[in-house]
Amino acid sequence: MSKVGVAGGSGFPDTEETTFFPAMDVKKVNERLTAAGQSHLLQFIEDVGEQERAELLRDLGGMDLQEINGFFHNAMKVSDHIKQEKVDERMEAVPREVLGSVTRDRDRLKDWEKEGLHRISQSKVAVLLLAGGQGTRLGVSYPKGMYDVGLPSHKTLFQIQAERILKLQRLADERFKTKCSVPWYIMTSGRTMDSTKEFFARHNYFGLKKENVIFFQQGMLPAMDYEGKIILEGKGKISMAPDGNGGLYRALGSQHIVDDMERREIGYIHVYCVDNILVKVADPTFIGFCVQKGADCGAKVVEKTNPTEPVGVVCRVDGRYQVVEYSEITLATAEKRSPDGRLMFNAGNIANHFFTLPFLRDVVNIYEPQLQHHVAQKKIPYVDMQGRLIKPDKPNGIKMEKFVFDIFQFAKTFVVYEVLREDEFSPLKNADSQNGKDNPTTARHALMSLHHRWVLTAGGHFIDENGTRVPAIPSLKDLTDLPIKCEISPLVSYGGEGLESIVKGREFHPTLIIDETGVHELVKNGI
Ligand code: UD1
Repeated sequence: MSKVGVAGGSGFPDTEETTFFPAMDVKKVNERLTAAGQSHLLQFIEDVGEQERAELLRDLGGMDLQEINGFFHNAMKVSDHIKQEKVDERMEAVPREVLGSVTRDRDRLKDWEKEGLHRISQSKVAVLLLAGGQGTRLGVSYPKGMYDVGLPSHKTLFQIQAERILKLQRLADERFKTKCSVPWYIMTSGRTMDSTKEFFARHNYFGLKKENVIFFQQGMLPAMDYEGKIILEGKGKISMAPDGNGGLYRALGSQHIVDDMERREIGYIHVYCVDNILVKVADPTFIGFCVQKGADCGAKVVEKTNPTEPVGVVCRVDGRYQVVEYSEITLATAEKRSPDGRLMFNAGNIANHFFTLPFLRDVVNIYEPQLQHHVAQKKIPYVDMQGRLIKPDKPNGIKMEKFVFDIFQFAKTFVVYEVLREDEFSPLKNADSQNGKDNPTTARHALMSLHHRWVLTAGGHFIDENGTRVPAIPSLKDLTDLPIKCEISPLVSYGGEGLESIVKGREFHPTLIIDETGVHELVKNGI
């Protein structure tokens, strides 16, 4: 049994795999460290307090140092290989026969949606949220899902997602006269577990059943310098980071999550990122498409239209599906166009995936050990030989991560589903800044702009403070960065459905909020 996931973590669920190891005495630990070329980790052991010392020994006791050294050597080898050999020549675009599209397959959408809703109504669908990231770019010290982007309702990302699940359960139940549940598996890391659990408990699981919200924890790995030495970030503290969103697969096994899915007789799993405010959690159309295509693995994508946009693309390399990151190809390849004028490699990955349970089980039991870690060069604070804390101004070491999409290569039937960016993808990555991208403002605007369009499509109108109708397509002089303020609770509508009876033929002043309690126009009411 590997113990890597135990290191540096706190708040692990009390399972067989994750109980802490008894503190080993310094001598024993030192022997193991020396054998692994990591004896520097105890150089300050006499300088630190009792508790720090015990924690360091416990963390080291829980690490499989030989395995970590192996990860380092393999990851560096793969990274050197990628640097030397661009994959351009071997890349092929996703062929049309595995591609479904919300714009080009309009006649199929209703059917796929019905299929997906049917599976949901049978309680065959689970959702899995990747929420183990550290949110470094956003710059908050708490889990990203707890972030409030400043919507009129001030709902957090977690609440929005929870309410979409609730609504979907209701839609499936109404349509198929059932009483279904969509279990929500939430992957956290050592750093985010306690606060995430506490947040859900405090908000009463946002109306979901507690037993259907299942938290589990991914592993952590130490940061290493370029010589493969583990970095100390304090005299008695190892620099640790989550092992990437592909740490999912190891955690699914070690935390018995696949077993839990089997016990619940789940058939299909929708995996997604915490940060996309527009995410259609357990999207029935995507699920129905994958099911009808007989796929064991699928990826939802948006069209990449700008060659220099920094997103990975789904494609085939040597005949196998994978995501090629923008840094791994030349500009010439990124700029290649198909005869229809679109970018040839335009399947932009949005970290939104479909798996069948048998596929996931095989990944966990068979393929996971074959996945290599990716190397991210970072500026990692460290203590030097004299015990001084140094904050480097250029990269001085690496963090190792597995990626969630690295398992596409093992799929027997892989499919790709293309959706519209303005309807389904607006990630929250960065803090607000002037002209910034993917930040709280862009996320908030994307959601309100979508809901504005839902109201218009359902036959509603907006009027300004003078009572004049705001044109659906604003003229150039009216164009500002500010969308009409409009927010529709997911408990009222999952994807724009069911709004006619509420808005058709009516005029609204922004800010408009539609929720389970009714229609609220905040300005009109002087709020
Ligand atoms: C990710 C995708 C990228 C895609 C982009 C779209 C991966 C590896 N890359 O990039 O191809 O274009 O999203 O928004 O999926 N996470 C964990 N554990 C970790 C690290 C991350 O659970 O150890 C979670 C995060 O909480 C987040 C998701 O994975 O929900 C994506 O992580 P992030 O670091 O934001 O990925 P990107 O680099 O933006």
